[in-house]
Amino acid sequence: MKAITRVTLFFFIIVSVITSFSMPVVMADEKEVLSKELSTLYRSARKVISVNQKHINDASIGDKGLSGKAVVDKAKENYKASTGADLNLATNTQAKEAMLSAVNDVMDEAQELINESGVGFKGFLPAIFARQVATKFTSKMDGKIKIKLTAPKKYVRNRANRPDKWEHKTIESKFKSSSYEKGLPFFENTTVKGKPAYRYILPEYYSKSCLGCHGTPKGEVDITGGKKEGGVLGELGGAISLSIFE
Ligand code: HEC
Repeated sequence: MKAITRVTLFFFIIVSVITSFSMPVVMADEKEVLSKELSTLYRSARKVISVNQKHINDASIGDKGLSGKAVVDKAKENYKASTGADLNLATNTQAKEAMLSAVNDVMDEAQELINESGVGFKGFLPAIFARQVATKFTSKMDGKIKIKLTAPKKYVRNRANRPDKWEHKTIESKFKSSSYEKGLPFFENTTVKGKPAYRYILPEYYSKSCLGCHGTPKGEVDITGGKKEGGVLGELGGAISLSIFE
């Protein structure tokens, strides 16, 4: 072997060894793609619940046909409708499978509750579904990736959904700024409780369907027994927050 070839080979081996040790679970730009895919999938699944809310609340029907499998299939359809492409399970398979499996488990566990005939409102709402899916997803990922539905501090109903410092800062200084482009996610490498993480947060706005509970008059009791926030159409109402740990 020529000396030059040997030197090249030597460097190649050194570089490979170093990168294989320091390689994070997911590479940097891949993290943005994965965050987008996971947040879209999360919303696609939650949409199945919001579209079926009346059906779920119907006291005259028993079986709602919303098994784990049915909701996963429908979530994939919604995903395709919103992105124009099938969910790609060839990359970051574990994380996307974990999300689908979390959706499946939450629905399977909700069967008794949602299929009870004779009961109208059952408290099974998109945000409750989203919180349960988030908890299951995070545990399936061993905490390596976390997802959370949060909201502007003044609009948080469930303390478990309160924004942390970084989320609060991003919501108040970026999402609420009039110059911030509507719907644009914000992401950066920072920390979560001191641990280095890639963080990604996507703003969400109140649509008409939200205002029956989150709208006006502020303080009026809604169907869930909670107090309306006084939110208005198009106002920033929440955010999906993801953390990918190194
Ligand atoms: C039927 C009433 C109802 C409707 C309709 C509704 N929500 Fe909620 N929302 C709730 C309740 C109750 C909670 C608290 C859930 C929990 O305990 O985690 C909640 C929680 C949330 C949260 C999590 C933060 C928090 O306050 O705890 C966000 C974000 C949110 N809703 C946004 C929306 C948006 C956006 C829509 C419309 C697309 C919507 N909601 C429609 C009742 C509703």
